Amino acid sequence: MKITEALFAEHLVFHNMFDHIEARAPKLKTLAEVKSLAALMESLLKSHSDTEDELFIGPLEHCFEQLGQRDAFLEEHQEIDASLRNLQQAKQLEKARQLLLAAVAYSRKHFDKEERIVFPLAERVLNSKTLTALGQTWIEQRTRAAL
Ligand SMILES: [Fe+2]
Ligand SMILES: [Fe+2]
Repeated sequence: MKITEALFAEHLVFHNMFDHIEARAPKLKTLAEVKSLAALMESLLKSHSDTEDELFIGPLEHCFEQLGQRDAFLEEHQEIDASLRNLQQAKQLEKARQLLLAAVAYSRKHFDKEERIVFPLAERVLNSKTLTALGQTWIEQRTRAAL
């Protein structure tokens, strides 16, 4: 499996999770519930973003630099992560809810950009042997994380 196919498959799971959070968030009645949903999102997103940082940034670095996108790509991962961590400090339910929904909206935009720009770029620039080798690394990392 190519790394782009693996990451895209992960995106599909996240799209479902984002739908679920957007549907649930308005109905949550306690700060603790909002925070626990945010913590789940944070931890799942973190391992996805770390994989992209490790397996994608390196081989595609020269292209990102040409596009002026290298820092944007890394920064967006950090911003999403930081906003979800900050949410844990919120004292009011409404504020936390707002932050959670903002993090989901921002993540959707980030995912959309990857699907429209970054993944197709990787498919164009890297040959299929490299894409498959990176896919294999992805499988090994995920297997190790699950043990
Ligand atoms: Fe990403
Ligand atoms: Fe992604």
